[in-house]
Amino acid sequence: MLIITKIEELQAFLADKKANNFSIGFVPTMGALHAGHISLINSSNLECDITVCSIFVNPTQFNDKNDLERYPKTPQDDIKMLKNADCDVVFMPSAEEMYPHQDERQFDFGYLDKVLEGDHRPGHFNGVAQIVSRLFNVVKPDKAFFGSKDYQQVMIIRALVEKLKYPIKIITCATLRESDGLAMSSRNMLLNAKEREVAKIIPKLMQEANELKHKGKEVGEIKEHVISELNKRGNYELDYFTICDADTLKELKSFKDAERQVALIACYVGKIRLIDNILLK
Ligand code: PAF
Repeated sequence: MLIITKIEELQAFLADKKANNFSIGFVPTMGALHAGHISLINSSNLECDITVCSIFVNPTQFNDKNDLERYPKTPQDDIKMLKNADCDVVFMPSAEEMYPHQDERQFDFGYLDKVLEGDHRPGHFNGVAQIVSRLFNVVKPDKAFFGSKDYQQVMIIRALVEKLKYPIKIITCATLRESDGLAMSSRNMLLNAKEREVAKIIPKLMQEANELKHKGKEVGEIKEHVISELNKRGNYELDYFTICDADTLKELKSFKDAERQVALIACYVGKIRLIDNILLK
């Protein structure tokens, strides 16, 4: 596996592969890799000739300085995992390499970047769009792979691809979960043992939301249930739990108002912010 830190070097490597008609798969990450990331590498390996993974903790998508400082960094473990997963190239640029000048671009995704994560983390999606467009401009992949834990992010990236007319196919891969259901996330490693124990309520409540829908409960009743269950316990601070149209992210009052529905949650366990979602069936 090649470890590349310079854009020019990566582009020279990829130019040669593209000249030989190799297809390029791309997995952008912020490192602190886990099995969920590796499942994206595996999908890319299956679908493309060459897999490039980037590791870059993008400062412009953090609206909270402490969150950026706290973000886990495990580069040596990441490299080992990527080697074992048969990744071809890991691109690990510095902040100066990715942002030689401040990125002044302001993206407007309309409704999509104003709600949920966009509402609670102002500027977050602008930062995501800045870095993902920069990485796409460098790698110019045929396909890019993202995890569906970041449901809204995937919608933003699809909108970005449309806006900037990138000829890139966005592939969404299923969320991988720990044995107790907690969605895999780099942030999980920041939870202490007690917080880790209480965090498992999140996937449990998401499952319950699905079961309640099956039992004929309506959106309002399910929201009430989830919020009151969380309130019974300490150690949580809920940012949001909501049920939306899975195709537009418009909040629903009734299940009959959308063909496909998704429940989304963001909450703090201690100081660590976790998100999850479930497509309701
Ligand atoms: O999902 C992430 O890890 C990041 O938001 C991404 C897409 C790598 C951009 O920094």
